[in-house]
Amino acid sequence: MKHIPVMLSESLEIFKGQNLKTFFDGTLGAAGFAKALLEDHPEIETYVGCDRDEKALALARENLKGFEGKVTFVHANFSDLKEELKMRGIEKIDGFFLTWEYHRCS
Ligand SMILES: C[S@@+](CC[C@H](N)C(=O)[O-])C[C@H]1O[C@@H](n2cnc3c(N)ncnc32)[C@H](O)[C@@H]1O
Repeated sequence: MKHIPVMLSESLEIFKGQNLKTFFDGTLGAAGFAKALLEDHPEIETYVGCDRDEKALALARENLKGFEGKVTFVHANFSDLKEELKMRGIEKIDGFFLTWEYHRCS
């Protein structure tokens, strides 16, 4: 499935030139941003992709084929970031990303 994340180039711009070894993505979704960031930053060793929705994680797994060695998929609320990282022995991250979703009610 092709998924086009919102404001992708603007989001990538934030991290341009930064040395990202460990990255936390709290709203992984279908992983459009994750894939683009991993392509832009081959230095990333550990990409922790978190989502509270298992269906989103399944899509992300599909869309991140080729980055298996780097990505850790976490089914959790990003508010549990600290515990989730600690559980995996990660003491420091070089960057993190949260996006938003909006729903039309009409
Ligand atoms: C707009 S999508 C993310 C798009 C994604 N960043 C991309 O580039 O493809 C928002 C995602 O955030 C997840 N989400 C929203 N609130 C969350 C929370 N508190 N903890 C974890 N995931 C959350 C939703 O389940 C959804 O998959």
